[in-house]
Amino acid sequence: MSDDALVLVERDEARRVALVRFNRPKQLNALNGEVMDALCSSLEALDADDAIRCVVVTGDERAFAAGADIGEMASASAIDMLRANRIAQWDRVRRIGKPVIVAVNGWCLGGGCELAMALDLIVAGESARFGQPEINLGVIPGAGGTQRLTRAIGKSRAMEMILTGEPIDAREAHRLGLVARVVPSELLVEDALALAATIATKSPLALRLAKEAVNAAFEMTLTHALAHERRLFYLLFASDDQKEGMAAFLEKRAPDFKGR
Ligand code: CAA
Repeated sequence: MSDDALVLVERDEARRVALVRFNRPKQLNALNGEVMDALCSSLEALDADDAIRCVVVTGDERAFAAGADIGEMASASAIDMLRANRIAQWDRVRRIGKPVIVAVNGWCLGGGCELAMALDLIVAGESARFGQPEINLGVIPGAGGTQRLTRAIGKSRAMEMILTGEPIDAREAHRLGLVARVVPSELLVEDALALAATIATKSPLALRLAKEAVNAAFEMTLTHALAHERRLFYLLFASDDQKEGMAAFLEKRAPDFKGR
């Protein structure tokens, strides 16, 4: 892969993890159609790759991503926006079955923040800044921000962020539950990859179904989601990994999960 690709992918087969990096630094990784397409294609390829069990998506020191590309939208009509439907790319990432960790340093704004929230969990470097500044452009978040931020941090704080456009820092994002952990910025990628490597030791089938079950919490009533969870739990008893995991516990050894 050439260094001028918009998204760079590194695979670590020994740890069964992959790192996907945005590579549009001069534009603070603004998410134009090509970048989103490259991201989605990379994630879809890794999702189908049995050697990889967990993925980390990151940007660089200045920005994870400063939002959707404003230049690409500035003169568009409503019908142009509807026809191009670029935000469908944010739906594409939701279909990835493997766990995807987002590692954020610097700006994580607008569509970048919405992308981070659409993936599975966020690790922040101390330099991370999260925000939904669309209000400053005369629009509103369009790729899930009004919904996912509200679910993540509650109505009042989400209203404050969305109505003022003001960002919050990594510590505040952690306090509010938007991010799972905050680490020194220079250790961000290493820490996120170590977390991914821990996750990658688990059964890939159980990971996939665990992710599906947690995400169902945002889509279903509690009664339906609990029934769904129970079916997924029972389904895992059809797997070799369940037999291996429970046998390993009883035999006091580490399990060796095969994803079957
Ligand atoms: N789209 C296109 N280009 C962007 C961009 C974006 N979202 N964010 C930054 N850039 C570009 C800048 O235009 C600039 O390019 P030039 O060097 O060619 O002028 C370059 O990246 C560096 O940016 P700045 O000079 O502005 O850097 P800064 O350090 O002074 O400021 C910043 C950083 C506060 C993040 C500022 O760049 C900024 O406010 N960016 C826009 C953030 C934003 O409004 N995001 C929401 C986009 S809309 C959206 O995402 C809709 C949706 O919900 C899907």
